[in-house]
This record gives sequence, structure tokens and C-alpha cells, in this order.
Amino acid sequence: MTPYQKIIEAAQFVLSKTKIKPTVGLVLGSGLGAFAAQVQVEVSIPFDQIPNFAKPTVEGHGGNLLIGHVGGTPCAVLQGRVHYYEGHSMEQVVLPIRMLGFLGVKKLILTNAAGGLVQGMTPGDLMIIKDHINIMGANPLIGKNITELGPRFPDMTDLYSKDIREKMMQSFKAINENFQVGVYCGLSGPTYETPSEVEYIRRIGGDAVGMSTVPEAIAARHMGIEVGGISCITNLAAGMTGLALSHSEVTETGKMVEKKFVALLTDLIPRLA
Ligand code: HPA
Repeated sequence: MTPYQKIIEAAQFVLSKTKIKPTVGLVLGSGLGAFAAQVQVEVSIPFDQIPNFAKPTVEGHGGNLLIGHVGGTPCAVLQGRVHYYEGHSMEQVVLPIRMLGFLGVKKLILTNAAGGLVQGMTPGDLMIIKDHINIMGANPLIGKNITELGPRFPDMTDLYSKDIREKMMQSFKAINENFQVGVYCGLSGPTYETPSEVEYIRRIGGDAVGMSTVPEAIAARHMGIEVGGISCITNLAAGMTGLALSHSEVTETGKMVEKKFVALLTDLIPRLA
């Protein structure tokens, strides 16, 4: 089966389960799965039932596709994601995103947990992603271009759409919460960075660092889906506090910001309709 056929097969399976045509897609990152409770779910499909989906293996990732409504807006929510560091190919990492495109998703909100690089950031801050830097050492579009999806050399200007970034700012205002704005730098992981790598990322223009999102944003843009991104700053990056980093810190901060994060997305999604 070609990569394109795999996407179509996955989409057809999901389309057979629901009549809802989602226009907004959402990916819930590490420790941020709680938003799922706000979705009026029509169908919940475990990833392992969807043809050609890879199974996430990381704690804190639910692994379900939810189709339903948020404030009347038809949505598809990926509760959890697959990461490159899990050993999946880039094609597998972005298959769920491409499938969302075939369900009818026009706007996609990517969320993640990230380390903050800027003095003045505090764990629990939410950051509107204004751009990204890809230093994963891979790109999901490497290989034969799938012409049915998009062009060989897609433009990446304003990848994180200005309109969605403005709507995010309006939502933060509406829920009366502060926010950061910055550049997300994607690395493969699974190691956290060394302090020297953190300094390097800061010098090349990164404000936050993480192990996801970049491939998904690229694949979405390739197919003409409008992208927005939110990082939950779960920790200050390595070397900034003198303390070691841990995954439990990441998921615990995720829990701490649950209320703010849920309020933001609940306000934002209807604005995207
Ligand atoms: N580095 C990379 N990925 C992360 C971090 C970090 O500090 N925190 C959460 N995800």
C-alpha cells in the first residue's frame, strides 16, 4: 500500500464511524489530555483500531481520536500523538494529521509540553508558537512527494497562521490569562538537551524546546491546513535552574495548568469556526 493509500484507508475507516465533518483539528500533547472532557464526544476511537496508525507508547498520552463538538464547532481531537523518538517513521508520525485533512479539517491546533529558554518564563506558562526551527534531523516530506497532498517545495512563511495567533491572543484576553509568544525549536529527543545545546538553541532563536509538533505542522501546511500552536512551558530548559529534568515534572506541570489550558481551548475553538 502506498503512503497515500494508507492515509485514505485510515480516513475512510473514521468516516464510516460518524456523520460529523470536523473542520477544526486538535492535538493534545503530554499531560494536556484533560481537554478531552470538554468535547461533546460522538465517537471515540482508540488509535490501535484505526488502520495504519502507530500506537503511542509514552505515559500521559491517551491514544484516542475523539470526534464531536466544542461549543457547537465540529472537531477532531487526537488525544495523544506518536513521536519520532519512539522509533516510528516520519510517515507514521504525520499520518494522523494527514488523515485529519481528509476528514475535512481546515484548521489545526497543535499543543505540546516544552522547556522554556527565556529568563522570565515560569513553568505553567502557555506560549503561542509564532514560528518553529526544525533541528530534528528529519523532515516528514523527505521521500517521493505525495502530489495528491501538496507541492514538492512547500512554502513555510507564516506557518503558524497570523489569524490563529490573533485569535489565541483574543482568547487569552477573554479568559484573563497572561501568555508568552515565541519560537518553538523541535529536536528528536528522547534525551533532554544538554545545557550547551540549550545555549545553542537560544542563540539560533529558540524560545522553547520540545520533541514534537514540527513534523505535524509541516505535514499540515503541505496539505494547505492552517496551523496554530500552543506550548505549555512545563519546565525551564536544562542548565537554567541547576536541577535535573524529569518526565514526571513535565506531566505534573501539565496537570497544574489544566484549568487555564482547558479554558483557552474552549474559548478558542468556536473562534476558529
Ligand atoms: N526539552 C525537550 N522537550 C521537553 C522539555 C524540555 O526541556 N520539556 C518538555 N518537553
